[in-house]
Amino acid sequence: MNKTEIINKHPEAFNLICYEDQHKNFSWETVKKELGVGGNKVNIAYEAIDKHATTWRKNKVALYWEGSDGTHLKYTFQELKILSDKCANMLQSLGVGKGDRVFLFLPRLPELFINMIAIAKLGAISGPMFSAFGPDAVRDRLQNSEAKVLITTPELKERVDAVLWELPKLERIVLVSVKEDYELEEGNVCYKTLMKDAPERFEMEWMDMEDPLYLLYTSGTTGKPKGITHVHNDMISYYITTKWSLDLRDDDIYWCTADPGWVTGTVYGMWGPWLNGVSMYIYDGRFDVNKWYEAIQSYKITVWYTAPTALRMLMKSGDYLVAQYDLESLRYICSVGEPLNPEVIKWGMNVYNLPIHDTWWQTETGSIMIANYPCIPIKPGSMGKPFPGIKAAIIDSEGNELPDGHHGILALKPGWPSMLRKVWGDEGRFNEYFNITGWYTTGDTAYKDEEGYFWFVGRADDVINTSGHRVGPFEVESALLEHRAVAEAGVIGKPDPERGEIIKAFIALKEGFKPSSELGEEIKKFIKHHLAAHAYPREIEFCENLPKTRSGKIMRRLLKAKDLGLPTGDISTLED
Ligand code: WTA
Repeated sequence: MNKTEIINKHPEAFNLICYEDQHKNFSWETVKKELGVGGNKVNIAYEAIDKHATTWRKNKVALYWEGSDGTHLKYTFQELKILSDKCANMLQSLGVGKGDRVFLFLPRLPELFINMIAIAKLGAISGPMFSAFGPDAVRDRLQNSEAKVLITTPELKERVDAVLWELPKLERIVLVSVKEDYELEEGNVCYKTLMKDAPERFEMEWMDMEDPLYLLYTSGTTGKPKGITHVHNDMISYYITTKWSLDLRDDDIYWCTADPGWVTGTVYGMWGPWLNGVSMYIYDGRFDVNKWYEAIQSYKITVWYTAPTALRMLMKSGDYLVAQYDLESLRYICSVGEPLNPEVIKWGMNVYNLPIHDTWWQTETGSIMIANYPCIPIKPGSMGKPFPGIKAAIIDSEGNELPDGHHGILALKPGWPSMLRKVWGDEGRFNEYFNITGWYTTGDTAYKDEEGYFWFVGRADDVINTSGHRVGPFEVESALLEHRAVAEAGVIGKPDPERGEIIKAFIALKEGFKPSSELGEEIKKFIKHHLAAHAYPREIEFCENLPKTRSGKIMRRLLKAKDLGLPTGDISTLED
């Protein structure tokens, strides 16, 4: 769609979305003023929830919630204010205070959101975790953050019971359940019972802009996941990127399909839309083509933020299906997490009569950095142009900017409001992002064209992106080594038309074990249960031994090259 066509379709959007205008007079200070956070003491929970409860938005629905069993619930800003106040009182009575880490291992229940708001009100730090995690993933996060409280359901708790003894810092477990007064183990409390008696008013903690808000763990090439730490100041970026990149307005019904266990679900599936006072819809269920279209139809979703893998699956399910639903309410579609194929955009144009706007960012950047804005012509296959106030560049390893068209490291000039503040408990790994003087390096490679659009090329490291989920090969290899039959394991991302990449494991077995498809299946199941449902190897290849460097490091690069039939490159460090 060109500018004229967009303006014809959405005349009200013209001023809001004009890229050049947005850039001309842009300053973060102005955004801060627009949001109304002048002083030094702030709280994102106030800006996102309580503030609206004092205006005409008081009775506006903040959250439309649908459960997988067909339950429909809704909460106004006023109701969320009261519930999160009660919840904050409840958590305070359990000893939670400023700076404490409170982790959430919950499906996308309304209580997940209520607790996240309450934790912010207390000045505590939340750690949302994806409900598909296994015990190892949960243990690593709670151990590293020294979490004091875990909020979960009785069902999910069972999954992590076996690792609780490894978490001496964990004082309490809050159980969210439809039931009440069920039998509780020592140290466990029932959310529902405590909420009943909790006072309705809570005096929130006023925070410095730089005080931590949440921790999200994400993968690098080596080592355990890193606790990316974000602060209240992030709200400046959340507010304006939601408004300008996702084009959200007051009359929208917005649906972000991501779980808050991923950064997209925390930033654009909660804080961003609520800072803008927008109604959002949450579906707490698995991906299902019919269900998704039904949701758009019945809730009259206007803005939809999803991921390439989901779009590819929708595309695969056939166009006739789309025709069975009324999706006329949709006016803006965005995508994030992996490269968005031009075919998918073309298909979207056909079936939804709308372009799909790609956006690029990372857990570490905290908010959208590069996007195909509402107002710029979409270049299918490109990530778009940098957000106002963001300086992105393609650099070499010395930090020199490369000319247009050259592949290099995608880097950003540090200093935007939502940039990561630290890697929890690991200054060294934080500093690695800033190894090239003057730049934050993303780990992605890309190039820029002569019109200023950025194009994704790949990862500069071994990090795997499967269905938009970032998985570190090391985590999977470590989990594999815990299996009784595995002697050595090397893990790579293998290109896959639907999922972007799938995880493939090369495994050398211990003495006494023989390769078989049953053993392969057993190992897959093992990883699914121990690490996470999305992080298991869909493909396993048994080998005698794995290629290693002389210092004993498994050469994933070589495994990958061999697997894909590519040249093996420099193998001078290879052990015999
Ligand atoms: C990849 C997700 C291509 C990229 C918000 C990045 C993308 C990593 C795109 C961050 C995109 C994200 N096109 N690749 N539009 N968006 N990525 O931290 O490799 O889970 O570095 O954050 O996903 O993943 P993360």
